[in-house]
Amino acid sequence: MAEPFLPGPVLLLGAPGVGKGTQAQLLMADYGIPQISTGDILRDNIARGTDLGKAAKGLMDQGQLVSDEMVNEMVGARLAQPDVKRGYILDGYPRTIGQAEWLDAHLVSLEQSAGAVVLPLVAVNIRVDEQVLLRRITGRRICSQCKHIYNVYFKAPKREGICDIDGAPLQHRSDDTEAAFTERMKAYHALTAPVIEHYSKQGRFREVDGDRSVEAVTAAIELSLRQLRQVGL
Ligand code: AP5
Repeated sequence: MAEPFLPGPVLLLGAPGVGKGTQAQLLMADYGIPQISTGDILRDNIARGTDLGKAAKGLMDQGQLVSDEMVNEMVGARLAQPDVKRGYILDGYPRTIGQAEWLDAHLVSLEQSAGAVVLPLVAVNIRVDEQVLLRRITGRRICSQCKHIYNVYFKAPKREGICDIDGAPLQHRSDDTEAAFTERMKAYHALTAPVIEHYSKQGRFREVDGDRSVEAVTAAIELSLRQLRQVGL
């Protein structure tokens, strides 16, 4: 029997609210590889009151980026876990050219130390108009337990404020305000847009239109991944 398709290491790129987290959760379920969301790891540190969480909270609430050093160290530690061997989905990282260059070098060093050929990164950029993004951000609610993502305008839970999956209360992220969104978009244009350019120049890159149904976006990303890996075409 043919092996199921595995996309290997994948970067999901795009502005705040384009659907990276929503799509990463679906890809994780389809491919059985972990989602690595730097935003989720930082929020978990804030919830646990760690030094990293304390340093990150003020910046995140204002819509500013956390330092490259902190985030790179966090990602390095996560990529040392055994569950990433078959691939992973990086969501919200890299966000600056400094992070992208650090990641590229880190993956080369991991490959050298493993003494094996590791699949190269592939990147998919999700595009959505900025006017649509504001509603996605202010309407977003997240399950406090299973982290499933809802939206009061586009994907409301059956019971207001309650997760359909486990009945836990939904939460509103403290940076999902219009003011923080404006700052996050500024950081995105100044610091993250060049990362898209960086990976598009490397060639293993596709763009998808994210202003469609969640299912249509997933299908477009999965087709892109097959094209990038030249599998099943
Ligand atoms: P992070 O958590 O990464 O936030 P983000 O990149 O701003 O992205 P979002 O989580 O807001 O959006 P998303 O694209 O995942 O969209 P989602 O799927 O939820 O970062 C937060 C902060 O942490 C940063 O500002 C920074 O301070 C810090 N940080 C994180 N990583 C960092 C790094 N690498 N370096 C430095 N600092 C870092 O969808 C959004 C909404 O839209 C949801 O309600 C969803 O239901 C809805 N939706 C999704 N798809 C669709 C669709 N197709 N149609 C209609 N609605 C949809």
